[in-house]
Amino acid sequence: MGRWTSGLTMRAIHPLPDLLINQIAAGEVVERPAAALKELLENSLDAGAAQVDVDLAGGGIKRLRVADDGAGIEREDLALAVARHATSKISQPTDLESIATLGFRGEALASIAAVSRLALASRAQGKPHAWRIEVEGGTVGAVAPAALAAGTTITVQELYFNTPARRKFLRTEATEWAHCDEAFRRIALSHPETAFTLQHNGRVAQRLTAGGRRGRIEALLGDAFVLHAALVDAEAAGVRLTGFAVRPAFAAQGTSAQYVFVNGRFVRDRVLSHALREAYRDVLHHERQPAYALWLTLDPRRVDVNVHPQKTEVRFRDSGAIHQLVRHAVERALATTAAEQPAVSAAERLGIAAARLPPYGHAEGNTRPPLDAGTPVGAVLPVWTPTQRGLELPAAEPAGFYARLFGPREAATAALPNEDAYPLGFALAQLHGIYILAQNREGLVLVDMHAAHERIVYEKLKTAMTGRVPVQPLLVPATFVAEPLEMATMEENGATLDALGFSMAAIGPATLAVRGIPAPLADADPAALARAVLHDIREFGGSQALAARRDELLSSMACHGAVRAHRSLAVPEMNALLREMESTERAGQCNHGRPTWYHLTLGDLDRLFLRGR
Ligand SMILES: Nc1ncnc2c1ncn2[C@@H]1O[C@H](COP(=O)(O)OP(=O)(O)O)[C@@H](O)[C@H]1O
Ligand SMILES: [Mg+2]
Repeated sequence: MGRWTSGLTMRAIHPLPDLLINQIAAGEVVERPAAALKELLENSLDAGAAQVDVDLAGGGIKRLRVADDGAGIEREDLALAVARHATSKISQPTDLESIATLGFRGEALASIAAVSRLALASRAQGKPHAWRIEVEGGTVGAVAPAALAAGTTITVQELYFNTPARRKFLRTEATEWAHCDEAFRRIALSHPETAFTLQHNGRVAQRLTAGGRRGRIEALLGDAFVLHAALVDAEAAGVRLTGFAVRPAFAAQGTSAQYVFVNGRFVRDRVLSHALREAYRDVLHHERQPAYALWLTLDPRRVDVNVHPQKTEVRFRDSGAIHQLVRHAVERALATTAAEQPAVSAAERLGIAAARLPPYGHAEGNTRPPLDAGTPVGAVLPVWTPTQRGLELPAAEPAGFYARLFGPREAATAALPNEDAYPLGFALAQLHGIYILAQNREGLVLVDMHAAHERIVYEKLKTAMTGRVPVQPLLVPATFVAEPLEMATMEENGATLDALGFSMAAIGPATLAVRGIPAPLADADPAALARAVLHDIREFGGSQALAARRDELLSSMACHGAVRAHRSLAVPEMNALLREMESTERAGQCNHGRPTWYHLTLGDLDRLFLRGR
């Protein structure tokens, strides 16, 4: 009975105490030391610091200290700085529409202070004295005098000491340090005009002088990055993209460094990452990872950063235009340098890769839908095999390749009856390794081979994800030298990787072995695929990656598993792809809404040639 009584009492609605509110927020805002470090660094940059010194101990769990020489905080504002929903950066609702600072939510310090022992010392610019306050588990102490020449120093100790549940989720010191190092790298890259130092357990890890982007990239990503990078600089309608994109031939030789900053903020955005994948996809070999450091600047009113507490996601007002700008700018940059490189295909050397921009004619005003009303791609179509039709398969090798790509279904041959059953028609040829030309009853069908295959693989993965993606074990495991963060991500996300169909293990302090990959991606390069997925999981936020960013993860995997451009396909293989498209839901669009195929009827062609009928 007593149990019930207390159960009922528990049900009465009551406002939560502040400490609990802040601890709940801390779960999102500062889920690990690296997230707290990012918030502290952002505050220093917002305060206009020229020098920022970071001192960590125990992977940031034991101690995180950030000292800056920025504007400082007035004595009477010290308590407010650690109070929830208190900020000096915005004041009215319209301010949210054009955020020019890194912070604006006024919750980072309050959240950190609720789950740690925090000391805040500051000397406001032009003031003769410094002052400090301490907060322990959310309880704010009295203001006391402090010794500090300028700026603000915030020390966070024993993170999560009072929230054991959260603390349990923390990993080893080495893992948390690797995450802190990456958080630091992002901030330091985005602001080369600020000098930084980084120490961990008394050892200096970085000492960065103020300067330009090139020097900062060399210091943080290595000389080779800049040496092998193409310069990107493009502007359209008030949006500017500048930075460096590593040329395809060298892409894998550095780390898989992928950094995009929007108005000085590191972001992980679906539109941007897709545009970049597209820019690289025709020139990058399967086993290589793109690498880039790019800065996008635009009017803050055209991008919403108030999407997620950690502020790494954004929404663009005009994402289509941004996608185009980024894709074309990087594609162009890579194409110009490709001409000087020996290891490119003839097509690239002739500049064809550049000349085919923009890729989709209809995007420029031809509004014909990619699918005719009468031929729904999702329709169930008869499946036939050559055996059923008494036909012979031609060359065994291409068919074998396709069997690997598409599973057991057999490839089609060129001579085919009953055109009506096959709305996408039958392949005639492959154009520049990029498009399939096919003929159907009404005219010509043009298929973007990679985009179409990507769609098919994506749908297969999505279907497989309703359960657990089947694993394709590898006869010979693929091993690669892993960066500390890759090791950490692998160790932390066993369940996510399992669910996605990966089997991986550490076989040395810095070596990972891939023993199995998702069956729908059996043709992909295992090491490259594994690295790409580890990269995505890390950036999408570990354990939440599957729930929150599933489609994005799968679409990135599909891109890796899909057949590359410039891979020549035989006619039966192309026909097999057309048949797969017909039986795949939504195959008419790539994963990002653009068409995968296009239809020109005889009537269209007649008009093109002014041929009256
Ligand atoms: N390093 C710093 N230098 C100067 N002011 C700071 C610093 N860190 C925090 N503050 C002040 O404390 C306030 C609260 O910080 P925070 O909780 O991170 O929220 P936000 O950055 O969203 O405003 C900031 O608005 C700023 O006025
Ligand atoms: Mg802040």
